[in-house]
This record gives sequence, structure tokens and C-alpha cells, in this order.
Amino acid sequence: MITTSALSEHVGQQVTLRGWLYNRRSSGKVHFLELRDGAGSVQCVMGKNDVSPELFASADRVSQESSIEIVGEVKAHPKRPGVFEVAVKDFRVLALTQGEYPISPKEHGTDFLMDHRHLWLRSRRQHAIIRVRHTIIQAIRDFFDDRGFTLVDAPIFTPNACEGTSTLFETDYHGDKAYLTQSGQLYMEAAAAAFGKAYCFGPTFRAEKSKTRRHLSEFWMVEPEVAFMDLAGDMDLAEDFICFIVARVLEHRRPELAILERDVSKLESVKKPFPRIQYDEAVKILNEARAEKRRSGEPGAEEVRDFPWGEDFGAEDETVISSRYDRPVMVHRYPAEVKAFYMKKDPSDPRLALCVDVLAPEGYGEVIGGGQREDDLATVEAGIEAHKLPREAFEWYLDLRRYGSFPHAGFGLGVERTVAWLCGLPHVRETIPFPRMLNRLSP
Ligand code: 4AD
Ligand code: MG
Repeated sequence: MITTSALSEHVGQQVTLRGWLYNRRSSGKVHFLELRDGAGSVQCVMGKNDVSPELFASADRVSQESSIEIVGEVKAHPKRPGVFEVAVKDFRVLALTQGEYPISPKEHGTDFLMDHRHLWLRSRRQHAIIRVRHTIIQAIRDFFDDRGFTLVDAPIFTPNACEGTSTLFETDYHGDKAYLTQSGQLYMEAAAAAFGKAYCFGPTFRAEKSKTRRHLSEFWMVEPEVAFMDLAGDMDLAEDFICFIVARVLEHRRPELAILERDVSKLESVKKPFPRIQYDEAVKILNEARAEKRRSGEPGAEEVRDFPWGEDFGAEDETVISSRYDRPVMVHRYPAEVKAFYMKKDPSDPRLALCVDVLAPEGYGEVIGGGQREDDLATVEAGIEAHKLPREAFEWYLDLRRYGSFPHAGFGLGVERTVAWLCGLPHVRETIPFPRMLNRLSP
């Protein structure tokens, strides 16, 4: 048995393929059976005169997504280079579907497809997305592994919040309270002191109460952390990292991007250097756009207010900011108020945090959040108190400042938002095999 990905090596030979019937067209004299086997698909041509009458008739009865075995000769497509066909010599149904396959070629609503996600994954489009995801994940690992980082897995059950208390999933841990991790960062800070350059890569959880196109309850995040690196070094790392991932996807997944009808020219322009702007400058961009809106004379436009300095950007704001650029933009030095307790303050303006958000182009929003960490013990203690976090749960974290404190920085990249961006998907729900969202825990 071979798979459809190996057809080019078997032209002129007889092969056996196993898979599922993706589609069938028939004329009176020929069945065109499209076999899908996970690696790809191939059109299998069964001529009435090439097989027995019983066999020819049996192909008429096989339903979409029945599992099948086909024996036949591999032929190069006469007109399309790189495309192959199989001239069927023998054909066997392994298991007929019991009833009609729920996902017919006609249009279905998203809820219906999400309820049938376990089957929907077989579709050409979902297959393409998950393969791009696979390549992104491989690129993530290669990038850090090739640069001397050590993989240090962070725990999933944790006693402490990392990214604020409003999105914590609480669980019972043998009678104690535990949370599903929001981020492995705090553990990576410990790892940076042990290994210099470390990263973790795993699922993270946020009890997001709102339905958006960008938020999942469970998502995958990769988090590098580096000792003796500052914010500028962090931005350099993020920039190289994103360029590496995009280049890898362009190198290996063009056929999948074509299936997704992705405009790859938009990805080809993702090159160093990325623009780096301060929060202040981003606010200026927003206010210019808002002033223009007011001048537009559209109904309600005069109501549009300036962006209030000090607030975090919403999805629409990020879209306005990123639409100025053809590549990701790095927005740094947000007001410390809106950021997490561990952020180091900018010594030249302590209202600001030494942090960075990387906003993907085309409105795909923040794909990376990170920055330099506060390394002064008393300042971290004050931050924990100011954010009303339980001090006991952070004692171990404070040890990192007690025993050889060191400047360090890192970031987290969300895999699903990256997949959405590179694949050109408006919603993150298709970027992960089995999404977990506000109203979805199944299948
Ligand atoms: O900006 P966030 O919250 O940063 C952190 O968690 C830091 N502790 C990371 C670090 O410095 N080590 O999340 C980082 C990234 C976001 O930029 C986004 O890509 C993704 O994680 N993300 C989500 N993706 C999908 N659904 C959600 N609910 C997400 N929340 C964050
Ligand atoms: Mg963030």
C-alpha cells in the first residue's frame, strides 16, 4: 500500500491505495472516484470496460466517506504537471457509511459544522489549515531549538494567576483551589535563571467571558524567556521569530495556502525590520483616524471621541493601527496601569511599562505580548499588592528576585492567532482541531 503523497514515484506501476471516498462523478461509461487518504487525494478512473460489470455497478452504490481500497495503475495527468490519476483495476468497499454522511457538499452553517468538527476535519479546507498549523508548530520548535534554548515545560495546574484574575479557570485540587494556567511565563522566569534561554510550549487557558473572533478558552502559546535580555532584545527576537515562521510556511505550505485562497503576497512582505512605535504614537494614529471620521460627515460621526490615553487598545483600534503597515508592527511602552503586575517600568517614564505587543497586519490583531520583567524585589512585591494578588502564592516567584536577580525578558506567541493570520481566516475557531470557546466544549 502507498499513500497519495507518493504517487509521483509510482507512475506506470500498479499500486494499492486505502482511504475514503471524497467525491464521485459518474457518466454511463466511467466512474470518477476521488479517494482521500489523509496525505492528499487522487482521482481514480474506473472505465466500464476495464473492470467486471459487478465491480462497475458496486462503485455506483458507494456513498461519500465510505472507506475503500483501490488497486490501479498510476498515470501522470496528460495536461497538468504534478497531477496524477489512477486507472482502477480493482476496487473494494471496506466499510460503507451507515446512513448518509452528515456533511454533504452543499453549504452548511458554522454551528452545524462545529457540532460535526470530528468529521469536518476531513474536508479539504480544514485539512489545509491544520497542516499549516503543523508547520507553524514545527517552525516554532526549530527556531528555539536551533538557537540554544532549552524546552522547560510549565505546569498546567497552578496556584497563581499570571494574567489577571478575571479570566481564571478555577478547579478543585484535592480540596485546594488551583487554576488552569493562563501562561507559563512565571515558570519560564525561573527557567531563565537555570538555563539562560528557555521556552515552554503548551496549552493555556483563559475563561474569556466574551465571544470574539480572536479568543479561545484554550489556546496554545509558546513562551521564550531570556536572561540578561532587555526590551530591545526582546523585540529583535520576536521579529526574527515571526519572519522565520512566515518564511517556513511560505516554503512548505503554498498548496495549502492556495486551497485557502490566501493572498501570499501579503505574507511575502513580512520581512525585517518591523516598525516599532511607542504606545503614544499609536494613540496619535488612532486620533488622526478619529478626527478624519469626524470630518467625514457620516451619520453619528460627530459623536466620535478621541482615544483616552491610558486605556488598552481594543480589536478595532489594533486594526486601525496595523492597517498603516504591510508587516507586523511592534507597539511598545503601554501605560503600566493596563498591563500585568510583573512588567518592568520604564526608568525614563515610570508611567510606562517596558512591554511590547506585536500586531499582525490586515487586522489579525495581537499575536505576541511580552516585555522586560521587573527585577527589583520591592517593586514586584508592590505590584502584587497593587493588583490584589495573594502574596503567599507568589513567594516562590519572589525568590527569583531574592537569589541573584537579573534583567530578563520574554514573550508569548499565540499559535491560533498566528494560524488565523497566515491562513487568512476571519475567526480563530478553525485554527485548532477541537476549539474550546465560551459556548463550545464539544466535540
Ligand atoms: O498577551 P498575553 O496575555 O501575554 C501573556 O500571557 C504573557 N505572560 C506572555 C509572556 O510574556 N510570556 O498572551 C500572549 C499571546 C497573545 O498575544 C495572543 O496571541 C495569545 O497569547 N492569546 C490568545 N489567543 C487565543 N485566545 C485567547 N483567549 C488568547 N489570549 C491571549
Ligand atoms: Mg496581550
